[in-house]
Amino acid sequence: MIELAGKTAVVTGGASGIGRGIARTLAAQGMNIVVADIEQGPLDEVVAELQASGTQALGVVTDVSQLDQVEALAQSTLDRFGEVHVLCNNAGVGVSDPVGSTSMEDWRWTLGVDLWGPIHGVHVFLPIMERQGAGHINSTASMAGLYASASLGAYNVAKHGVVALMASLERDLRLADSAIRASVLCPGPINTNIVDSQRNRDAESAAQHVGTEAGEKFWDLLTRTLADGMEPDEVGPMVLDAIVNDKFWILTHPEMAAVTDKQLDLMKDNQTLSR
Ligand code: NAI
Repeated sequence: MIELAGKTAVVTGGASGIGRGIARTLAAQGMNIVVADIEQGPLDEVVAELQASGTQALGVVTDVSQLDQVEALAQSTLDRFGEVHVLCNNAGVGVSDPVGSTSMEDWRWTLGVDLWGPIHGVHVFLPIMERQGAGHINSTASMAGLYASASLGAYNVAKHGVVALMASLERDLRLADSAIRASVLCPGPINTNIVDSQRNRDAESAAQHVGTEAGEKFWDLLTRTLADGMEPDEVGPMVLDAIVNDKFWILTHPEMAAVTDKQLDLMKDNQTLSR
């Protein structure tokens, strides 16, 4: 367990939704907060809000899919605060299509932000925490990291990768008797702006999205489901609990894990997947 007051946290995708909630929660613990996000306007607003409540806060415009930008984020953090004890790899985007209709650019964009983002975060920040001898890395995956539903192929692949990344990391750290810990957040439906992910996509990349009827149907359902979902500020305390109490799994809707139980039963019985 780490004493958090006076320590520094970096939260990617911290300008909106779940990341903003995590930033607010960690700020309330007396942490210095570095908010990293690709969207300048909302980033400035969150930083101003945190500063107004007395937090030492810094905003760094960052595209987490680019290694050099994550390296620059770490440098800005060290220049300002000298160290970093918590990293939340939370930035994410989503796009919905069946695997066979997913354009190469949709694969690259989704995996670039959702999977390479956390890989870049671990690659850059883990050595810093190792030098300090303490730290915690949390990444936001999804229930889509535990169960692959139809019409969400690229997102499922990215989020299964994030769960594997964090489980591998945590086991490596424990094997090495490291003081650093890892955790993974697998949210169910949360009422955020993720359904409007394309807002942060450059026009050339967005033009290569191939819309499908199945994808649009899924996205409409997702939009309605998330609007009725948990409020993002409820998630921050769950992440805090994992950091403070060395917990690995953070499921906002544990009852939804029943689908993985069902899948495991089918696996053990060598059965096929259901729809
Ligand atoms: P959101 O859209 O409200 O927030 C995502 C943030 O990431 C935004 O501020 C956005 O500007 C930022 N972002 C997008 N691309 C970026 C990039 N390349 N570099 C840096 N920042 C970037 O959405 P939400 O829901 O808060 O998403 C946070 C995480 O939660 C994502 O990883 C998402 O996949 C995950 N998640 C969300 C669920 C939900 O129901 N809302 C369910 C499961 C997982």
